[in-house]
Amino acid sequence: MSFGKKIPILASANRANVESVGDDTIIRAADLLCAGKLVAFPTETVYGLGADAENVDAVMQIYAIKGRPEHHPLIVHLAAPEDILFWADNVTEKAQRLLRRFAPGPITLILPRATHVNTVVTSGQDTIGVRIPAHPAARQLLQAFKKRGGHGIAAPSANRFGHISPTTAQHVADDFGNRIAMILDGGEADVGIESTVIALTMARPALLRPGSIPLHELEETLDEKLFLPSDTAQDKIPRASGTLPSHYAPDTATCLVDSQNLMQEYARLLTQGKRVATLAYSIVPPCPEHMKAVLPADAALYAHRLYAALRALDVTDADVILIEAVPDTTEWFAVCDRLKRATTAK
Ligand code: TXA
Ligand code: MG
Repeated sequence: MSFGKKIPILASANRANVESVGDDTIIRAADLLCAGKLVAFPTETVYGLGADAENVDAVMQIYAIKGRPEHHPLIVHLAAPEDILFWADNVTEKAQRLLRRFAPGPITLILPRATHVNTVVTSGQDTIGVRIPAHPAARQLLQAFKKRGGHGIAAPSANRFGHISPTTAQHVADDFGNRIAMILDGGEADVGIESTVIALTMARPALLRPGSIPLHELEETLDEKLFLPSDTAQDKIPRASGTLPSHYAPDTATCLVDSQNLMQEYARLLTQGKRVATLAYSIVPPCPEHMKAVLPADAALYAHRLYAALRALDVTDADVILIEAVPDTTEWFAVCDRLKRATTAK
């Protein structure tokens, strides 16, 4: 069970900096990025907190505002695959295969960094994460930024470090209020969990963070088995903040329980006088309506709604969020990974 400390919601009411996606707001957002400001924008996975990846001060602001340790590298978002050549000194054959099949889309590639690239964005590492998002608003923003001479937008998920990633503009406003110049509202993120991260900088391609792309499709494309986070030599793979044991976590204490033990655990916590919220997909304890979320029993639909549900339960007065463990099958691999991190003690 993880016991976090509830951090007050900043400014739900204050949406002054939230702007709907439109031709004029995209242009203003691109101008703000060029002026060294931070702009949150929608992607198909989760919302990103963007800055000009070449502007050291702007990138440092991302770390400061998120409370993110400086040794966690950022992903550089690009308009098109050819833009990778500015950032990476080698787009390997395996990388090209993945790009042909999955880009634009919810995949991030870790490649050798081009020597001229400032190491603030890579946290001093000699590798760089690049991603070409598929969301139309992200693409428009990247293209407008490129027209103004920009080479890429550095963007982590737009949440406080370690907290739940945002899948709506309101989630971003809840975490940061008006501390960022603009939040572009493009509606609910489609996928709902962060991109698949694959490192192509070692002898064998490594899966640093599972996402919505099925493992067998990645391996089929690469024509070899991926090195998995669970493999024994994990200490040899590069650090990724999304691979920390505790991440994507609510502030409320959380507890992951097998379906067959869920009702019993619920009853046990109630006898201890605890206020209990539940996130489930097959069995639903008799929690008050606002303290339960029942998600679809389909992994992709579940992922789409997971973070919004966790955020909603996190702001109730629950002492504990009980989470029904999901099936241990390949379709649920990425969701399972996120639930484990959400329920690991900080
Ligand atoms: O879906 C996503 O990837 C979202 C959207 C906004 O694009 N972004 C996102 O960024 O999740 P962030 O910073 O929250 O997570 C990026 C992950 C982290 O686990 C980070 O450590 C890893 O990618 N990463 C970035 N650059 C890396 C590098 N050079 N080597 C190893 N890991 C890297
Ligand atoms: Mg993140």
